[in-house]
Amino acid sequence: MEFMKLEHIVKKYKLGTEETIALDNVSLELETGEIIVILGPSGSGKTTLLNCMSGLEKITSGKIFYQGKDISKYSDRKITKFRKKNIGFIFQNYHLLENLNVYENILVGANLGKNKKNIDDIIETVGLKNHQKKYIHQLSGGEQQRVSIARAIAKNANIMFCDEPTGALDEKTGKKVLTALVKVNQKYHTTMVIITHNPGIQYIGDRIIKMNSGKIISCEKNNQKMNPNEIPWG
Ligand SMILES: Nc1ncnc2c1ncn2[C@@H]1O[C@H](COP(=O)(O)OP(=O)(O)O)[C@@H](O)[C@H]1O
Ligand SMILES: [Mg+2]
Repeated sequence: MEFMKLEHIVKKYKLGTEETIALDNVSLELETGEIIVILGPSGSGKTTLLNCMSGLEKITSGKIFYQGKDISKYSDRKITKFRKKNIGFIFQNYHLLENLNVYENILVGANLGKNKKNIDDIIETVGLKNHQKKYIHQLSGGEQQRVSIARAIAKNANIMFCDEPTGALDEKTGKKVLTALVKVNQKYHTTMVIITHNPGIQYIGDRIIKMNSGKIISCEKNNQKMNPNEIPWG
């Protein structure tokens, strides 16, 4: 059984008489532990796809299976519970708790889940060992992004949805964030879906999906997987 499966997803937004078809018959299967990179121009439906996969947005039609269960039929309460248990979100802005230090922010993640993964281990994996006593405002953007990755892992997320995780970062810091994501994937086998408009990032993926106008226009296996430090930037 595949880890996650999307069948013929359509998502329409209605604003007055205006209708936008944000997702137009999208089908996709995800395997446990793979890194999928989704590329596409602005407005092509990337964020909508993530929001629908996580149940943050209701789909107009189609089905979404998670480990064989059709989650698109879940009630609001059930889908919220599902999200809390299984999903980690990594956004461009970090949603961290300013009054807590790095260690404490990650601990909050751990307390949300039933996880008892070793926090020190997680901190080491994302490369924040020397920063764990710092408060959020004392960190760079890339370091903050790595705290949010660590927090999702501490919570025991099975899948991480990353929407432009390096969108606000320069090459050096952006690559550190990608390195943390890849390490987490290797160590904890967390499935990763990474949205980006930076074509260089496709080379860290196991599969590369291209979107345009709400459709998947190509889906290819990446046979030349690279270390984040080796990828071209932009
Ligand atoms: N909440 C919304 N209400 C109305 N239209 C939306 C909403 N969210 C996204 N859209 C539209 O859906 C399309 C896809 O948007 P989005 O998924 O954000 O694209 P991307 O992330 O690839 O830039 C766009 O045309 C956008 O304007
Ligand atoms: Mg977007």
